[in-house]
Amino acid sequence: MEVCATTSGSSDSVPGAQGALPITPGRYVLGTDPVERGRLELQHNLWRPALHEALVRAGVTAGAHVIDVGAGPGLATADLLHAVGPQGTVHALERSPAFVAELQQRYAADSRVTVSQVDLVEDSLPVTPLTVDASWCRWVAMFLPGHGPEHLVRQLAQAIRPGGAAIFQEYVHYQTYGLVPFDPDIHSFHEQVMRSFASGGGQTNIAGRLLRALADSGFAIEHVRTIIHAARPQDPFWQWPSSFLRIYAPRLVEQGLADEAWLARALAALDRAERDPASVFTTPAVLEIVARRLAP
Ligand SMILES: C[S@@+](CC[C@H](N)C(=O)[O-])C[C@H]1O[C@@H](n2cnc3c(N)ncnc32)[C@H](O)[C@@H]1O
Repeated sequence: MEVCATTSGSSDSVPGAQGALPITPGRYVLGTDPVERGRLELQHNLWRPALHEALVRAGVTAGAHVIDVGAGPGLATADLLHAVGPQGTVHALERSPAFVAELQQRYAADSRVTVSQVDLVEDSLPVTPLTVDASWCRWVAMFLPGHGPEHLVRQLAQAIRPGGAAIFQEYVHYQTYGLVPFDPDIHSFHEQVMRSFASGGGQTNIAGRLLRALADSGFAIEHVRTIIHAARPQDPFWQWPSSFLRIYAPRLVEQGLADEAWLARALAALDRAERDPASVFTTPAVLEIVARRLAP
């Protein structure tokens, strides 16, 4: 593994309850504590099939040079390595010092992996222009404040070779988060989450801005699809929206975006729904985008 430390190294971790306040623009609202780290793992396991489908659609195959944008602790990195095989490479870009350390440790023995500490809002990507075959970016652009998403797309346009692909899975309509039958306290969770992400400078439903930025930066939009799951309590996918509520609803109270009475009602509603075999959780809508780099 190669290690590049090119960055600003900005502090972005939200260490837990009291340390999380107040949230300021540019700060990564979800943090990197062990509970969030575990949630990312559960989330990745559920979303792994969609990742593989996107790689096939984009034509990412053996020998490809891929960048993992906002790689977190490197969960998707392993899948990207599997796709590119022994002759390919994966360059993981991440800002969080904790995740960068985990990436470095995890892939220390793999010469195909480079890890760079990068702030995607401010930094240039540490890659040779027009050499990258594909970029992978999932649930990252939504956290970038200001013109961060547009800056990122411009950076990808400089990095990706003509014919290469930029792949995104980011929210297009978070409002589909909710229970069937309708529950008002579960329903209002999505509004509070979106406010919380906005307080860190991000925009939850970022997919539309990405499409615009890609079209303006030399990409052709080749493929889009929405991904929404409807999960019953016994389905594995139920755990994705339900675990997020159990973890993040108390943080909303700490952030002053919700009160204790709402938290108690929401958790009770979730418990009730989990005991009811007629319940369905609908998940927030993700837009998958595969954009092809045109010749400059
Ligand atoms: C929800 S996690 C997703 C991680 C990974 N892409 C995945 O799908 O498992 C969002 C990631 O974006 C990273 N991130 C947020 N803001 C960033 C920035 N300005 N520069 C680089 N990475 C950033 C966070 O540190 C975190 O690892």
